[in-house]
Amino acid sequence: MSMQGSVLAVGKCLACLEFMLFPVWRGIGAASGVGGGWSQGWGRCLRWEPDSQGQGPRIPVFDYPVWLVLCRGGRARLREVCQRGRGAIRLPTDMLSIKLPQLFDIHQVPKVFREDSIISGYRHPRSSALDCVLSSFQMNNETINIWTHFLPTWYFLWRFFVLCSTLNFLTDSYTWPLLVYMLLICIYPFTSSCAHTFSTMSPESRHICYFFDYGALSLYSLGCAISYGYYVMPDSWVNSFLHQHFVPIAVGNTLFCTSLSCYSRFLELQFPQRSKALRTGAFVVPFMFDTVPLFYRVLLCCGGSCSPTDALSSHCYHLLFAFLTCFLFTAHLPERLAPGRFDYFGHSHQLFHVSAVVGTHFQMEGVIADMMSRRAWLVAHGAMPSFLGTIGALVVSLILNLSIIGIFSAPLLWKPCRSSSQPHTSSCECKEQ
Ligand SMILES: *[C@@H]1O[C@H](CO)[C@@H](O)[C@H](O)[C@H]1NC(C)=O
Ligand SMILES: [Zn+2]
Repeated sequence: MSMQGSVLAVGKCLACLEFMLFPVWRGIGAASGVGGGWSQGWGRCLRWEPDSQGQGPRIPVFDYPVWLVLCRGGRARLREVCQRGRGAIRLPTDMLSIKLPQLFDIHQVPKVFREDSIISGYRHPRSSALDCVLSSFQMNNETINIWTHFLPTWYFLWRFFVLCSTLNFLTDSYTWPLLVYMLLICIYPFTSSCAHTFSTMSPESRHICYFFDYGALSLYSLGCAISYGYYVMPDSWVNSFLHQHFVPIAVGNTLFCTSLSCYSRFLELQFPQRSKALRTGAFVVPFMFDTVPLFYRVLLCCGGSCSPTDALSSHCYHLLFAFLTCFLFTAHLPERLAPGRFDYFGHSHQLFHVSAVVGTHFQMEGVIADMMSRRAWLVAHGAMPSFLGTIGALVVSLILNLSIIGIFSAPLLWKPCRSSSQPHTSSCECKEQ
């Protein structure tokens, strides 16, 4: 096969793969029947049992416009679908003349954008980047989510710069775990606020934004592991097997966490509960692992064989908020009790953000306190951080996690050019010109 031929074949493959994996939005007339709604792309791909209508093996001809283009030359039909979708998705044209981005109710947006018990305040599912930025100054269901992680980013950056002026991060290797930790606690809220800002540009962008959000969170778990491994480890565990392998295991955990949480998005439409459980598990595992040394220290203290320090009380507050964070993430309280009441203020995701940030603040205080007070003892016992075990682990983990995100995002980005007469206003806009 010629070079060009094989490139074409690979292209076709990817195009078909993409349409098998990801659902296609076909306009808001879903319920009414004709050509609307989401094709159950993921569902079909992930459902192994035979089709309920017993049609035998399914050849996905009608649900995947790309097949029409590639296999039947149905460009005209495709254009028609695009136009219909655009008409439906753009809603009445007079709405577009309003300057502030229009908000929608839950039944007006595609299924992927819907959030349980949040009824109103949805942004346009095809917002422009500018609209997204503007929408962070307009009251909608994501505004508080954006700000509750954007402002803390600046708080952590400020703390980081203050530390930079008092510690020697460049040459003092004892401070490197803290350096990595501080970098990561600045990155995760920032990534999250960007994800919440830009998630309504398209269904694809929503997934990719949250892939990055999960990636940043799982790197944060590595930051916790590195700082706990060097500063928080109980005295009796220093130089143990766990201590020596703590960071490599944590790197493995980030890969597990990112892959599983990204994968859980694929199940969201068809198995919402399974998806949520997987995602929760994906985050609980690395954070539990990181916290094992801390639990041990707290238990020792409860048993009376320690002198409670400032560090330990900060760590305990952190644990309290960490449990609260996990609870809020899974329980969907309070909006579950009164759907529609907490669309703008006070829904669980906002509380989750706040509790995560407050928890991180206490964790940071605890880590810094331990780092300052245990330095002499740790250095004397030969527990000096290495470059590879701190910054090296971060770089390796960053590269691997970005690759995982890349693998999950590729089918979303490799959208074949679905041509249209007005490429810039088209809702079936081509991602790769
Ligand atoms: C807010 O609305 C967007 C769509 O604009 C949706 O994707 C998102 O899930 C909603 N967020 C919350 C927290 O309800
Ligand atoms: Zn969030």
